[in-house]
Amino acid sequence: MPLTGLEQKDLKMIIFGGKGGVGKTSCSLACALGLAEKHKTLVISTDPAHSISDSLCQEIGFRLQPVHNVKNLTAIEISADKAFKRFKKEHESELIKLFDTSTNLDDEDIQQMMSLSIPGIDEVMSFKTIIDLIEENNYEKYVVDTAPTGHALRLLSSPVLLDEWIKMAAKMRWKYRYMIESFSGDYKEDEADVMLLNLKKTVKRIAALLSNRDKCEFIPVCIPEDMAIMETSRLLHELQQYHISSHQMILNNVMESDESGFCRQRKAAQLKYINKASDIFKNIKIVIVPVFPEEIKGVAALLKLKDIIFGR
Ligand SMILES: Nc1ncnc2c1ncn2[C@@H]1O[C@H](COP(=O)(O)OP(=O)(O)OP(=O)(O)O)[C@@H](O)[C@H]1O
Ligand SMILES: [Mg+2]
Repeated sequence: MPLTGLEQKDLKMIIFGGKGGVGKTSCSLACALGLAEKHKTLVISTDPAHSISDSLCQEIGFRLQPVHNVKNLTAIEISADKAFKRFKKEHESELIKLFDTSTNLDDEDIQQMMSLSIPGIDEVMSFKTIIDLIEENNYEKYVVDTAPTGHALRLLSSPVLLDEWIKMAAKMRWKYRYMIESFSGDYKEDEADVMLLNLKKTVKRIAALLSNRDKCEFIPVCIPEDMAIMETSRLLHELQQYHISSHQMILNNVMESDESGFCRQRKAAQLKYINKASDIFKNIKIVIVPVFPEEIKGVAALLKLKDIIFGR
């Protein structure tokens, strides 16, 4: 059974996630290659390890790069760290103002606060980069490759975390505003208020896109091994909590050959877990991908994987 429904017009963002090393990058690139046959497609990596460059055998990095010899496909590797640094640089004065006016901190304390991370913000900034790209609307499909589960979940939960921080900052501002109004009767919104409001808007845009079943789909990638199945099960549970749609998954590295004793043994061992996966993931379609005799590297190999996951 192949992946289905990805060509639907409204579906904009397809996110691949799962345990370390199960084939997320290979499957997202194969999926992007398949979609690029008919749609202008952008493949985005949010993995700090930036493995799409390795997988494509082409240096990508933090800027839009057309994929060599593939029509309609562009790639970018987003750096959460760089995105956050850029945000801090652009909003330094607002952040200082926020800490300065809302708390009883001295300059040294404020400098210390500035050097700390705001929970969820680096991931939100990488998501903001994705959302901005989607809103520019230069592509029909956006395929997102994530780092192993923990990181992907941080990315997905980042709007909630950052929202908590915004609420806390807004509360501090509210006290400051109350004081000003009590003394002078007049309060004018300043740049720190505007920054908080814009952050709030970003969080809302991200949450709205992630939970829109027509626009966004998450595809877990798993392998027929116990730990991977358990991790995928927890991942699906979390996705439900964030109202993120997921109705098909890839079971990768499945042994199909009977040629040697090793293959037969491997196949028998996997069968138990394939059955377990069908049992646990009853409500989700499982797309089986066989183990290839060699690693999947470069566009030609990824195209073979594409043919399998799209059933061509
Ligand atoms: N079906 C397959 N058959 C053979 N090799 C595969 C298959 N799928 C993936 N691989 C290989 O397994 C390795 C890991 O794949 P990939 O990088 O896609 O996994 P990942 O989940 O993105 O890893 P990470 O968690 O490190 O980001 C790569 O060398 C890739 O070529
Ligand atoms: Mg990867």
